Amino acid sequence: MTAPSQGGDTGVRDQVLSFMKDRTRSAAARDAEAREMPPARPPVSFADLPEHHQIVTQASAGDQLGIDNPFFRSHAGSAGATTMVGNRELANFASYDYLGMNRHAEVRQAAVQAVERYGISASASRVVAGERPVHGELEEALASFYGVEAAVVFVSGYLTNVTAIASLIGPQDIVIHDEFIHNSALTGAKLSGAHRRFFKHNDMEDLDRVLHSVAGRHRRALVIVEGVYSMDGDVADLPRLLDLRSRHGFWLMVDEAHSLGVLGRTGRGTAEHFGCRATDVDIWMGTLSKTTASCGGYIAGSKALVSILKAQAGGFVYSVGLAPALAASAAKSLEIIARDPDRVERMRANGRYFHDAARRHGLDTGLSIGASVTPVIVGDSIRAAQLSNDLQDAGINVMPIIHPAVPEGQARLRFFITSEHTSDQLDFAVAQTAEKLQSLVDRNFGIQSVDVAELLARMAVKG
Ligand SMILES: Cc1ncc(COP(=O)(O)O)c(C=O)c1O
Repeated sequence: MTAPSQGGDTGVRDQVLSFMKDRTRSAAARDAEAREMPPARPPVSFADLPEHHQIVTQASAGDQLGIDNPFFRSHAGSAGATTMVGNRELANFASYDYLGMNRHAEVRQAAVQAVERYGISASASRVVAGERPVHGELEEALASFYGVEAAVVFVSGYLTNVTAIASLIGPQDIVIHDEFIHNSALTGAKLSGAHRRFFKHNDMEDLDRVLHSVAGRHRRALVIVEGVYSMDGDVADLPRLLDLRSRHGFWLMVDEAHSLGVLGRTGRGTAEHFGCRATDVDIWMGTLSKTTASCGGYIAGSKALVSILKAQAGGFVYSVGLAPALAASAAKSLEIIARDPDRVERMRANGRYFHDAARRHGLDTGLSIGASVTPVIVGDSIRAAQLSNDLQDAGINVMPIIHPAVPEGQARLRFFITSEHTSDQLDFAVAQTAEKLQSLVDRNFGIQSVDVAELLARMAVKG
C-alpha cells in the first residue's frame, strides 16, 4: 500500500493560492480601471428621446392650429351604435361592436354568471392553472363555427398574431404578406426571424410574381392576408389565393378580425363569402373583440396546428388564460350569431346602405365593399382630425386614421357600421360628413394652408 502523495496535496494548495492571488490581482486591476473611467452618468431621460420630442411637437402644433386631440376621449357607458361623451349622446361609428353584442342581455348575463362561478381571472396560464369549462366550450364553438377540427384562444387578438406566427416559422422560412396587413401580423413576422416580402395590396399577379421569385429558397412559406381589410374594408381574394396555394404549396393564414360574423350569409367569414371550403385555409385567425364583444384572439384549423400552438406558442404557454367572463361572453355571442343570422344580414344591409349613400354624396370610400368598415378618405391628416372634431360637435363619433396607420396622404375617417344603426343615423352621418368636409375644402383647411414658418415661430414663443 502506498502513502497518499504529498506532492498531490501541495499541487492542490498551490492551485488554490494562485487562484486567490489571481482574484485579488484582478479585483485590484478592476478597481484601477474603474478609477480611470469617466464618472458614471445617469441614464438618458425618456423625456429627452427624439420619440418624445416628436409627440410633444405634434401636440403643440395641434394646440397652435386650434385642433383638439380627437384621440383618447373619455366615454361614459358602453359602446354601441350610440355612445355618451360628457352628457351628450352621439351616434357612434367608432366601435367594433358590429352585431350589437356589447349590450345584448344574454351576453352580459353569460359574463356575469362566469364571474360568479369562476371569479374574475383565469389566475395563471391554462397549462398550470388548469382550464375552466368555458375555455373548451369557446374553442369548440369556434372550430364548429368554421367547420374545422380545432381552435385555441389567446388573451389578445394582437398577441394571437404575434405569437402564432412567431412560433410556426423561423429564420429558414419566408413570410409573404399583403402590404396592408395589420401591425400585429407584421410584428409576428419580424419576431419570427423569417425572411419577409410583401405583395401589392390584394394583387394576386404580384403575389404570384413574388412566389416565383422566392421558389425553392426557403424551408416553408406563409402567406398572410386579411378577410376584410381593417383600414380599407375590401376583401382578400380567397379563391385566387387558394389557387396559388395549390400551385406554390404555401401555408395560407387569413386574419378574420373584421370578417367573422360579417362576411357570408350566416357570418361564417371569408370562406362562406366566396363559397370556399374552410378546411382549405391552413390558419384562420381572428379576434374576439369585434363581433363577439369580448377580448382575445383565436386560431382555428387542424388539430395538429392547435396542439403545436398549445405546446409551443409563448403567448399561450407563458401567458394567463383568457378571463372566464370574456370566454363566456364570446361563446354566447357566437351562439347568438349562429341562431340569428338576420343580425348579420342587418349589419350587411346597413354597411351597403352607408357605403352607397356616401358615394352618392361624392365621398371617397376607397376600396371598401361596404360591409363592416367603410373609410372616407380625406388625404390630409390635419383635415381628417378636424373633420372628426367637427362631426363630434354635430353629434357623430368617428375616428380619424392618420399616418403611420395608413400611408402618408391617405388619412381618413373610418366608419364602423353595425346591425344596430338606424337608417336615420346612417343618413345623418353621411350628410354631415359630406357637408363638414366640403366646408373644410372650401376653407382650404389642411396642411397645405399652414404657414409652417409662422407655426414654428408661434411654437417657439410658447416654449
Ligand atoms: C386585422 C386585425 N388583426 C388583429 C387585430 C388585433 O386585435 P385586438 O384589437 O382584438 O387585439 C386587429 C385590431 O383591430 C385587426 O384590425
